[in-house]
Amino acid sequence: MSVRLEREEPLALLVLDRPERLNALDTGSLRTLLAAIRELAADERIRVVILTGAGDRAFAAGADIGEMVEKSPAEALAFAELGQAVCRAIEEAPQPYIAAVNGYALGGGCELALACDIRLASERAVFAQPEVTLGIPPGWGGSQRLPRVVPPGIAGELLYTGRRVGAQEALRIGLVNAVYPAEELLERARELARQIAANGPIAVRLTKAAVRFGLEHGLEAGLAYERQLFAHAFTTGDQREGMRAFLEKRRPTFLGR
Ligand code: HXC
Repeated sequence: MSVRLEREEPLALLVLDRPERLNALDTGSLRTLLAAIRELAADERIRVVILTGAGDRAFAAGADIGEMVEKSPAEALAFAELGQAVCRAIEEAPQPYIAAVNGYALGGGCELALACDIRLASERAVFAQPEVTLGIPPGWGGSQRLPRVVPPGIAGELLYTGRRVGAQEALRIGLVNAVYPAEELLERARELARQIAANGPIAVRLTKAAVRFGLEHGLEAGLAYERQLFAHAFTTGDQREGMRAFLEKRRPTFLGR
């Protein structure tokens, strides 16, 4: 099994699980991962997803180089499409995704983390887009998402050199939100996930949709979309419940409808 899905309602963990290859992603792993993301997207009981790597060395050391080496251009295109579809499925999922980066996040591994909404790192995390050192450009979105996450000049340096970035530098450049000792990382990710899951589930879903839409379509279109989603929230019981609970000085009980 190259990807494990663990349900801890209202959270789910997706674990890249091929530690003997530092969780390198081959076609089989990508297909399994895509199916799991789609399954979770359809499950309203799951409010937040944590993506992490098995073992204590890697999140994912990239796409499987052994599988890629002899690919034809058409096969390379299909492989890029599959990895991009996985990253897109994460962005389009209703749930926020937290990448818990517990070691190497290289190439395709870094690209997967970049598609997540939030990145947390262990002190052992190492990020890089080393594709150019292998004679290829990024293929799963690194050239597009890295400059949208860190300043473009920093992204350019990392993309053109393939240089590795440790956890503290990743924190400084805004690639990750926080750095924790390795043994604490997953529990900290769960804490953050539970904090998100305690909020109105529809509100969180609408907020993710608004953030993603605005990043892709610009401010004016994003604002128009935001106000439509805001109005939509007023068709839900959660809006009444959240506001009444505040006025009545009690905790809200959100039902997700
Ligand atoms: C296939 C990989 C792999 C990978 C590691 N392994 N990364 N196999 N694809 N991406 C395998 C190694 O071959 C080795 O297998 C085992 O995992 C353990 O790795 P070692 O190299 O022995 O470990 P270590 O010396 O500690 O070095 C760790 C490392 C190094 C720095 C992470 O493995 C490394 O540089 N890996 C490649 C990283 C990379 O370039 N990633 C980007 C790929 S391109 P054996 O059988 O020897 O034990 C990419 C493009 C995405 O991701 C877009 C595609 C369209």
